[in-house]
Amino acid sequence: MSWTKFVAEIDAKDVFRLNTTTQLNGRFTVPGDKSISHRSIIFGALAEGETRVSGFLRSEDCLATLQIMQDLGVDITAAGDEVLISGVGLHGLKASAGELDCGNAGTAMRLLSGLLAAQNFSSTLVGDESLSIRPMGRVIRPLTTMGANITSDNDTAPLRFNPVNAIHAINYNSPIASAQVKSAVLIAGLYADGKTNVTEPKKSRDHTETMLAGFGAEVEVEGLTVGVKGQPQLQGQNIQVPADISSAAFFMVLGLCHPKADFIIENVSINPTRDGVIKILQAMGGKLTLENVRDQAGEPVADIRVQSSELKGIEIPHDLIPSAIDEFPIIFIAAAFASGQTKLTGAEELRHKESDRIKVMLDGLNLLGIDCEELADGAIIKGGTLGSGMVDGHGDHRCAMSFLLAGALSSGQEISVRGCHNIGTSFPEFFDLVTALGIAVKQPVPVITVDGPSGVGKGTISALLAKELDWHLLDSGAIYRSLALKAMKSTVKATDEERLIELAEHLDLTFSVDGKTGTNIILDGTPVNAELRSEACGEMASKVAPIPAVRAALMQRQKDFQQTPGLIADGRDMGTVVFKSAPLKVFLTANPKERAKRRHKQLQEQGVDVKIRDLLEDIEARDYRDSSRKVAPLVPASDAHVIDTSELSIDEVFAKIIGLIEQHIKI
Ligand code: S3P
Repeated sequence: MSWTKFVAEIDAKDVFRLNTTTQLNGRFTVPGDKSISHRSIIFGALAEGETRVSGFLRSEDCLATLQIMQDLGVDITAAGDEVLISGVGLHGLKASAGELDCGNAGTAMRLLSGLLAAQNFSSTLVGDESLSIRPMGRVIRPLTTMGANITSDNDTAPLRFNPVNAIHAINYNSPIASAQVKSAVLIAGLYADGKTNVTEPKKSRDHTETMLAGFGAEVEVEGLTVGVKGQPQLQGQNIQVPADISSAAFFMVLGLCHPKADFIIENVSINPTRDGVIKILQAMGGKLTLENVRDQAGEPVADIRVQSSELKGIEIPHDLIPSAIDEFPIIFIAAAFASGQTKLTGAEELRHKESDRIKVMLDGLNLLGIDCEELADGAIIKGGTLGSGMVDGHGDHRCAMSFLLAGALSSGQEISVRGCHNIGTSFPEFFDLVTALGIAVKQPVPVITVDGPSGVGKGTISALLAKELDWHLLDSGAIYRSLALKAMKSTVKATDEERLIELAEHLDLTFSVDGKTGTNIILDGTPVNAELRSEACGEMASKVAPIPAVRAALMQRQKDFQQTPGLIADGRDMGTVVFKSAPLKVFLTANPKERAKRRHKQLQEQGVDVKIRDLLEDIEARDYRDSSRKVAPLVPASDAHVIDTSELSIDEVFAKIIGLIEQHIKI
């Protein structure tokens, strides 16, 4: 990324908000094109000789492709955005010992399916949670017709490719306009004897055909049909990856909707199979001007001038959908800022991207107060003013970035976005770029909530996690128990709400963490750890905790624990009430018998003799009270990861949660 004299002020008070009084001007560029970067690695590997790539997008998605090709025996070295690939030729790949991990990258999985389907060795492609539910039947079907032998469950990843001796050329009529499907078939077609043709209902992005032709394959394009002749000898190339129009689109909308913007995004690919977003935004009244249009190693590129505009709603023409397929999240934001109504139909494909983009975007816009309607194959969005709120990007990089920029443009509002952890899959420099633009980004202190009933091991696990990560620990149960203890000592009954609230508001409670004994809980100047653990105190706590005003009085005290570098919050409503936007929520369960057994053991160790049967009865009664109470009942948050610990050791539960942390939180 290069910058020249970008003028902007940073307003540190704002939460991811742009200072809209600031003039936005200057020149900058965005990182390299994702589609071209993936293909440069794959085709470079299949060519004879060296392929040099400059401007390679070092995003998680493209690095997954790079790693997979290395796993298949290709020598690839990367320094910054320069990549050098020593091609092994069409038949030079070697089997990988392990599974091949595509991460979040649909393009990697579909394109590499075409490649692995044609090999005489077996391999397995796996992906993350989102990729593992995306439809792969669309590539499995045509590849199977070509002679591939692919095993999968329900046409989703993991995909297992069994060895084949030959692949046959086919004429494939694709039911959808998808460059990934087209590319998978054409890449497999490189291994066939004859000519493989793919016909699409509408033209999808054409990078595979143009790049393959550049590498020396015999490619024919006629209308909506692309043909490639099998067994070509591909020759290594020098590839200059232009800036990704899909990443530039975010800044086009930012500039158009900003009151004082006039800037230039340099060196952006304006390939006609990708420029739908420019045409759509121009049709909405957006002042986007293409300057210095030129050819860069076969790709048309331009510098795009973006000027503040009064956008108006339009009906989006169907023929522009394939060439803007990745840009609808940010186009929806443009529609929310436009006057009048924007209508999109015929875009059902958006439901099969990294998330269901129609649902995710409309849920978020609705939550922010925009009048919009979800259609089976699109949306109707009436422009308006966005309000404050916490929206969810659902781990979809483009939805997350779109909402963040909507927040940046909404002065006076506070828009927070969760589910931003995958932005690095396509745009690792996003936060650097927006910060340089003058947008203040406040990254919330991360919280991991560990909820569940008593006896599931959440206290032990939470303490272990806090120690492992060196984060703060909130034992929220101890706060309620302290209030209960104080009430018992002050002979306040569980039914005396007024006095309980008074006690809650003035509770003299401190937590002191000490390396040897863990957390010391000090009530009215006296350590009370042991007293808090008594059955009587637990019983009283379970009676005072359901009182709404008591919970409200103790809420801020719990929130105050959210301090850098992070917080493990152990309790019963941490994920559902106190830290609703926590990036990772865990809910532990175990069957009551097992919990009674564990509690019994704990009490025996403390020298307390009770019958397991009595403990079981007590646990069951308390579970009923906790889960049926009206305020903050004990239920898992809808986005919590539920772990049944009945059959698991502490170490196993701990390992599971560490796995979730690695997946969901960047530390
Ligand atoms: C891509 C094709 C598009 C696009 C994706 C990248 C490619 O998907 O959404 O981000 O590089 O071939 P479809 O071709 O499935 O629409």
